[in-house]
Amino acid sequence: MKKVITYGTYDLLHHGHVALLERAKALGDYLIVGVTSDQFDRDRGKLNVHQSVVERIRAVEALGIADEIIVEEYQGQKIDDIVSHDVDIFAIGSDWKGKFDYLSEYCDVVYLERTKGISSTEIREKKAGIIRLGIIGGGSRAARFAEECTYVSGVDVIGISPTRPDESPEFTTSLTPYPNIEELLKDSDAVYIIDTIETHAPLITQALNADCHVICETPLFLSPDDARTAFKLAEEKNLVLFEAVKTLWAPAFRRLLLMVESGAIGDVKAIDLACTQIPENFDNTQKNIYEGSLYDWGTLVLLPIFQLLGTSYSTCDLYEMKTGDFSTFVRGHLAYEHAIATFSAGRGIKSEGHLVITGTHGYIYVPAPWWKPEYFEIRTEDLRETKRYSFSFEGEGMRYEILEFIAMIRTHNLNNRLLSHDDIYAISHIISRLDSGDTIRI
Ligand code: CTP
Repeated sequence: MKKVITYGTYDLLHHGHVALLERAKALGDYLIVGVTSDQFDRDRGKLNVHQSVVERIRAVEALGIADEIIVEEYQGQKIDDIVSHDVDIFAIGSDWKGKFDYLSEYCDVVYLERTKGISSTEIREKKAGIIRLGIIGGGSRAARFAEECTYVSGVDVIGISPTRPDESPEFTTSLTPYPNIEELLKDSDAVYIIDTIETHAPLITQALNADCHVICETPLFLSPDDARTAFKLAEEKNLVLFEAVKTLWAPAFRRLLLMVESGAIGDVKAIDLACTQIPENFDNTQKNIYEGSLYDWGTLVLLPIFQLLGTSYSTCDLYEMKTGDFSTFVRGHLAYEHAIATFSAGRGIKSEGHLVITGTHGYIYVPAPWWKPEYFEIRTEDLRETKRYSFSFEGEGMRYEILEFIAMIRTHNLNNRLLSHDDIYAISHIISRLDSGDTIRI
């Protein structure tokens, strides 16, 4: 008996899939179809799949072409499957031509002509429509953001309008330059704002008033009043206002929070973390003060604290060091009824950027830079019991937050499922204390 194997995602099953499966089956007597697991698709950067693995398997099963269906869960599994199922032929569409030649060591490799004019990607885009996204701001972040958008289906970056005269987009990105923000807003359904915090409130208001959904760099606002006004306007206009904090959507960070919440280290008693950076050619006497300490790191340093301990702290002491008007370093202590959190935020100063979450049964250690998490450990008294976890962080990592932003627009959901409005009010309250000089100066 000749056994044939083929693999795919089979999202929103279409006639291209059917034709491929029929031809694969005709190559032998027995067809095994490998359907990718949800996690495997996410791990390989395919973030836009609409159906779950169960729905996709059911659809393939219902065709009655496959003799056996298996789930593909990891890189390299194809070799294991071919050997363990004693497969004679590996078949796949011609879009993969050459990519699986390495399997010819184990069986025959056949590339079948792909059906023209149809793909899951196209069906997904037709179903949902394309969101036209403009970028306000400039620099390398704009280019990285635009590149990351290509991994999320249904978004088209239409162009860029700089906010500063020295940020000519011709030099920083290959995106279409717009003469001004008004023109860009006219052509956009959504905008990404990259600029320092003091510009956010007016730019967000302008974008919302032009009926654009907004994803804006972190932290969002200088004060809770600004935050309340903007969220009220977004709600009135039925538009999404989203803070771009890529750490929050990184798979490792999410898993870490879930582990702590499910009791992996007992009760959380202390959180210690730092975020510091010395940018290239840094000169804090020349700098915009809104690039200093909490103006830049505000959300990130408070994120693990507010996620794990909530925003109802009893006291918050902020110690600050300034160079002239520039806030170089802030250390904050937040006391809760049963826990304490300490954070450091610095610009033009460097420290160990790790995160330690102390619990009654053990602690979690995330090495620097913890805000780009890929790996963490759960440690207890007995170091031999240390558990290690690693999760890939695809590309620049922005694709996860872009995906979430787009999903919120599509489902008309104005509430971010991981970062509430109250969290953002609490963060902007602490930033407003820095802004009004309510700190202990060192
Ligand atoms: N396939 C095909 N003809 C098409 C689309 C897909 O022959 N028009 C084949 C692929 O080459 C692959 C299998 O069907 O062998 C499963 O592909 P999959 O990636 O699930 O489908 P796509 O439509 O290509 O999905 P996407 O757009 O998400 O990449």
